[in-house]
Amino acid sequence: MNHQDYIIRPENAEDYRKVEALVRESFWNIYRPGCYEHYIIHVLRNDPAFVKQLDFVMEKDGVLIGQNMFMKTMIKADDNREIDVLTMGPICITPELQRKGYGKILLDYSLEKAQMLGFGAVLFEGNIDFYGKSGFDYSSKFGIKYHDLPDDADASFFLCKELIPGYLDGITGIYLTPQGYYVDDADVDAFDQNFPPKEKKKLPGQLF
Ligand SMILES: CC(C)(COP(=O)(O)OP(=O)(O)OC[C@H]1O[C@@H](n2cnc3c(N)ncnc32)[C@H](O)[C@@H]1OP(=O)(O)O)[C@@H](O)C(=O)NCCC(=O)NCCS
Repeated sequence: MNHQDYIIRPENAEDYRKVEALVRESFWNIYRPGCYEHYIIHVLRNDPAFVKQLDFVMEKDGVLIGQNMFMKTMIKADDNREIDVLTMGPICITPELQRKGYGKILLDYSLEKAQMLGFGAVLFEGNIDFYGKSGFDYSSKFGIKYHDLPDDADASFFLCKELIPGYLDGITGIYLTPQGYYVDDADVDAFDQNFPPKEKKKLPGQLF
């Protein structure tokens, strides 16, 4: 990859609508018919847990091609402590430029910035085939469980990376997804009316 052909910069208010359209294009029909993520990012920017300093877009030739963002959340430890951690996403790269290395560059850049701000660990739901290359491992290996998941369920979707080595040493507990990620179908559908019509399809491999 030509390392001169992109920039990563903070998202600003003028980007919001374009970023939401980019997220919609990138997530559409991937995990479910249609997608929620463009509405989720719209809502999360106003959430107190949103980390403004870690809200990034990627541009190539003056066009937005990617975005990533983080939220503060916590692990409810078995010893009753509340351990501050980050969660991440949505993250996306425009469909035409996926699998060319841009996602990993954007991810690694954002993680480095999160580390510089002093955050200790990042946990979220994702595919180890992509995130494993940036140092993520299964959260189960750190003794952290996903909320509301039975003990015998497959938790391989739930990933973790320490930004401060040893940050989770001696901690077991349950990770909590920030409330802001839970949105109503009706609100998503209403928000989606602001964008050009797009066909929802039920496709193999979708999670929901
Ligand atoms: C996931 C996403 C951000 C990755 O960005 P990207 O630019 O396509 O990824 P990269 O080219 O940097 O990938 C680096 C490596 O990760 C792995 N990888 C990337 N995407 C993968 C996927 N969907 N499945 C399995 N492995 C993947 C590959 O090994 C890839 O290297 P390779 O292409 O040489 O095999 C992007 O594909 C995307 O926006 N997808 C749709 C939205 C989405 O799913 N977001 C993540 C939600 S958790």
